[in-house]
Amino acid sequence: MRCALVSRTLDLRGYLGAEIGRFADRIEIVDHRSDGKDADVRLAVAWHPPDDAFERYPNLQAVCSIGAGVDNIIACPSLRPGIEVVRVVDPAQAQMMSGFVAWHVIGHQRRFATYLGQQRDRIWQRLSQRHAQDVPVAILGYGEIGQRVAADLSQLGFPVLVWSRTAKPAPPPIRGFHGPSGLAAMLDETEVLVNLLPLTQETEGILNRELFNRMRRGGYLVQVGRGEHLVDEDLLAALESGQLDGAALDVFATEPLAPAHPFWRHPKIVVTPHDASDVRIEAVAATLVAAADAIGAGQRPPYAIDRNRGY
Ligand code: NAP
Ligand code: GLV
Repeated sequence: MRCALVSRTLDLRGYLGAEIGRFADRIEIVDHRSDGKDADVRLAVAWHPPDDAFERYPNLQAVCSIGAGVDNIIACPSLRPGIEVVRVVDPAQAQMMSGFVAWHVIGHQRRFATYLGQQRDRIWQRLSQRHAQDVPVAILGYGEIGQRVAADLSQLGFPVLVWSRTAKPAPPPIRGFHGPSGLAAMLDETEVLVNLLPLTQETEGILNRELFNRMRRGGYLVQVGRGEHLVDEDLLAALESGQLDGAALDVFATEPLAPAHPFWRHPKIVVTPHDASDVRIEAVAATLVAAADAIGAGQRPPYAIDRNRGY
């Protein structure tokens, strides 16, 4: 099956490397070109595709992401209705994300930022210790990655609250909430908020002033979803007023983050370059092969998302 690599931000062939060649007997990889039509392409791998990219492929049946998120593919104007969009599910990515989130949650609990400041000034001073059980952590999104993060934080002793769109059972002591009223109830108890939502019309701008104001004063934000979830000025205002004590930001509405953006030099913000957790290349390749096999058999590819829902 012929599969096109489509991205305006990444060299996908270089990114996927030798792994993609292992299936050369089943998948013929071609680089995207901007001219003419290619009626033989039925599958694509995409990451931030050019707006008109999919016009070139009249018989395209499925587009695979190279990550958990598919928002940048769904946003492509030339993605016709009926083309399946496939995400990657990789337990190793969830594990990697869990470590990243734990780093920031514990950093807030144990006041690492204050200790770093004290070290710079050669100050030997112990701070009062806070136990994990006194720092409630809420996770927006209880999907493939949120579930792993919740389980690990709970294991570390933090009271963990999770929020999803639909009601989902959570193993005690993790407590589940859903829907708008569930969000409000959960935030009333939240000190650290971890965003692990997909970007959809419903979730865009969800990290805003109203939400921050419902959290415990002196709270902390770990933002690892998508940049468009956050209203930047509302975060800056919440940090200024002390409603939030700090934020770890891994994703931004414009990436790379512009050199002049105030987040870079803010003393209470930690910036990382969208590096919280990638899927393994092996997982991308396995997803692609499974999609090719399914399409060949006239079936829906595994991990095809619900296009109406947007994730
Ligand atoms: P997932 O398995 O699709 O889970 C999404 C979760 O969000 C589900 O629990 C879903 O609720 C919930 N949700 C969606 N819309 C909602 C809404 N309107 N209200 C409340 N809950 C809502 O996704 P995942 O694999 O865990 O990944 C989540 C996101 O993390 C990705 O889409 C991506 O944006 C981000 N991510 C970032 C990085 C990074 O490096 N920074 C890495 C990986 C992923 P239901 O359970 O009811 O469906
Ligand atoms: C990373 O951001 C992903 O969606 O996997």
